[in-house]
Amino acid sequence: MAQTITVIPGDGIGPEVTDATLTVLKAAGADLEYDMQQAGLIALQEQRNPLPKSTLESAEANRIMLKGPLTTPSGAGFRSINVEMRKVFDLYANVRPVRTIVPGGRYEDIDLVLIRENTEGLYVGVEHYIGIHGDPHAAAESVMIITRFGAERICRYAFEYARANGRKKVTLAHKANILKFTQGLFLEVGQEVAKEYPDIEWEDRIIDATAMLLVLDPYRFDVLVMENMFGDILSDLMAGLIGGLGLAPAGNIGKDAAMFEAVHGSAPDIAGQGVANPTGLLMSACLLLDHVEQQEVATRIRGALDTVIRANESRTVDMGGSASTTEYTEALVRALA
Ligand code: NAI
Ligand code: MG
Repeated sequence: MAQTITVIPGDGIGPEVTDATLTVLKAAGADLEYDMQQAGLIALQEQRNPLPKSTLESAEANRIMLKGPLTTPSGAGFRSINVEMRKVFDLYANVRPVRTIVPGGRYEDIDLVLIRENTEGLYVGVEHYIGIHGDPHAAAESVMIITRFGAERICRYAFEYARANGRKKVTLAHKANILKFTQGLFLEVGQEVAKEYPDIEWEDRIIDATAMLLVLDPYRFDVLVMENMFGDILSDLMAGLIGGLGLAPAGNIGKDAAMFEAVHGSAPDIAGQGVANPTGLLMSACLLLDHVEQQEVATRIRGALDTVIRANESRTVDMGGSASTTEYTEALVRALA
């Protein structure tokens, strides 16, 4: 029986890249049924709720989600639905592989995986304003929360991932020199977990130096693991190593649910123009296929991506070409035939 997944096209370029992704999934013969649901700004506008009950129920039933980007207002307004979904389904590991697929960029042959803690850290949303002398916004406070439980399961995930995927090294990036308690605990737990994996090389590095080294010499890294916000920031940096956000996939993995989405956002600057690159979401769909044990289909799609991108006839604008989303998608479908 085909696996039913919840599909949330989302906001901005979301519907365009989701259409393209589903077209390629169908052409590749993925054995999936799609339960289409809304979330984000579009859901707020059409259902008066950025995370409607029907979406949650669908996700609850299917446990596997493919999600487009959701617009989150900065500052005031509703809280991030992405963060909410990760919390509701306890999707504690955000797995973000970056691999060169467009040759001729700044770096060749990048092949790295960032594992970002997805439920704790500074993004727990424990924050408030402090009013002083009639100014209600005189100060603000956000709390970073790290637990031994959370740090241990993400560090263990990183080592298990390294083992299962034939990776050699895990780097834990932190700021324990300044944030001695929260980041100190994360590092302490990482050191303990590392002892159980003598077959995997291990190092820890300060987060800022890690950012510099990723640009100077990304080849010294393999798997990287870190706290939520550090992972958010460095995963965009790492997407930059392979030519940009349009090419970076992600899986949010929990014990009994998983949500796959591109690293990029809703890209309001290019939404509705038919020029968005669907590769990030399509590669996220490949991670989904791996997850539901349809690896052969994922391999075929990755092969088609390599063929089309290397041929350099139908690349989207961000990949240095002039193809529309539809033209690029059609080229992928032809490459699958
Ligand atoms: P963004 O990732 O949407 O866009 C940054 C830049 O990259 C823009 O110039 C955009 O045109 C380009 N870009 C992104 N994806 C692309 C693609 N597939 N093809 C070609 N170019 C692409 O980041 P931004 O503008 O900071 O955020 C926009 C909105 O998205 C915000 O509301 C933010 O909260 C939300 N967001 C949602 C995420 C999610 O749903 N997981 C992740 C990141 C941001
Ligand atoms: Mg981000």
